Amino acid sequence: MNKPWVAPFMSPHQVGALNKFGLRPLRGEYQDHIEGNLIEELVQAYGSPLFVTSESRLRHNARRLRRAFQNHYPDVVHGWSYKTNYTSAICNILHQEGCWAEVVSRFEYEKARMLGVPGSRILFNGPNKPAEILRRAISEGAHLHVDHLDELSAIESIAQDRGQPVAVTLRLNLNTGYSEPWSRFGFNLESGEAHEAARRIELSPHLRLTGLHSHIGTFILEPRAYAEQIRQMCEFMAWLEPDGQVRIESLDIGGGLPSQNALQGIYLPPAQVVPELDHYAEVIAGALHQGLSHRVQAGLPLPRLIFESGRAVVDDAQQLITSVVGTKRLPDGRRAAVLDAGVNTLFTAFWYNHQVKLTRPPVGPPQETVLYGPLCMNIDVVRNSIQIAPLRQGDRLLVSPVGAYNNTQWLQFIEYRPAIVLIHEDGQVSVIRRAENLEVMCAQDELPEHLAQPDPQPWRQAVLA
Ligand SMILES: Cc1ncc(COP(=O)(O)O)c(C=O)c1O
Repeated sequence: MNKPWVAPFMSPHQVGALNKFGLRPLRGEYQDHIEGNLIEELVQAYGSPLFVTSESRLRHNARRLRRAFQNHYPDVVHGWSYKTNYTSAICNILHQEGCWAEVVSRFEYEKARMLGVPGSRILFNGPNKPAEILRRAISEGAHLHVDHLDELSAIESIAQDRGQPVAVTLRLNLNTGYSEPWSRFGFNLESGEAHEAARRIELSPHLRLTGLHSHIGTFILEPRAYAEQIRQMCEFMAWLEPDGQVRIESLDIGGGLPSQNALQGIYLPPAQVVPELDHYAEVIAGALHQGLSHRVQAGLPLPRLIFESGRAVVDDAQQLITSVVGTKRLPDGRRAAVLDAGVNTLFTAFWYNHQVKLTRPPVGPPQETVLYGPLCMNIDVVRNSIQIAPLRQGDRLLVSPVGAYNNTQWLQFIEYRPAIVLIHEDGQVSVIRRAENLEVMCAQDELPEHLAQPDPQPWRQAVLA
């Protein structure tokens, strides 16, 4: 069949825009609904800005990731990294999908327990575990990932008080050669610090070493980094195990699997190519089978594999609707739009170039535009430069993916934080976090009696007069 005839047209070349060498027609591109819900109706019902979460995408992502690992390794646990997005409904969806909780603070531990996650399904990471929460975590059978020697001593003394040895996992830091090592967490492998910590555990009647953990960084674009991490962890494990005194039951490789977000240039290797998650799983399992051959030869079971993926699971399950509150032209001639969501709401704008879509048909060719947020701060730039059709006040924009690290790192600064809604698998919508209001913002304030009123007291009035 012949292609339909389209009248020839000319469009001006824009600096930075795709041209005839990389043609992608931007004209006509927009999205006015999310999973069957009109964006304008969502805003009318729940306000703007608005985070919109897809239950089906979240469940799909969790299943796909676990299946990818289970296809290659027999015993796999996914610890959901709470810090990535600890909205209760999101956590519970992932728990329903079989994820454990990976927490890094007293708050996150208490939240996981509040949601009903048993201690035995909580991985407790982080450098600050006060004695009170450690005691609770130990009594509830949580998996303790030890960060430093003082923490080890604290655990030992709690175990001694209880009269029962406590199982611990050692957090390791190591250099894979592929990414900047996260050397401030856990015990260093290359220097022998990890070996000393393991000896210290072995010598204590109150402690048992049963697991190894390391997290090599975030947005790891090179699967071989994990293979190297696992090679080093398995080598350490073989060093620990020969006399049978120590038996490592779990190897936790942390998080760091990338999402499809676009890192800004300063964080970007020469070109961002995100490998398939299946490929990571294959490389990781391959390295495990190789590194654990000593176990297999000795007829011993393979340790459990734990991964703590955050952004790869939730990032593309959430989008942000934001509205244009005004437009302007900057002194250098560029167009600018002020949005009602800035870096306070979309904290990850500091390191991602999110996809930004119009929600109505574009009128006019794309133009270089700066997207600002609503804060009275120069740093509040959502996007320094984007090619987008002319914007008008009242336009809604759809920003994605935004599911990772925004609902936890957002700032309560100047503005109320917006609502988060969930689109259920059947298309229904419910609020999973209410928008803040004056009452919420002031809930923690206290006014001593003499400051109950803003008016100056009579004697002060005289001074001020
Ligand atoms: C110990 C640990 N586990 C898991 C994660 C989740 O990382 P990501 O979202 O990159 O998968 C982090 C993030 O910093 C972490 O520190």
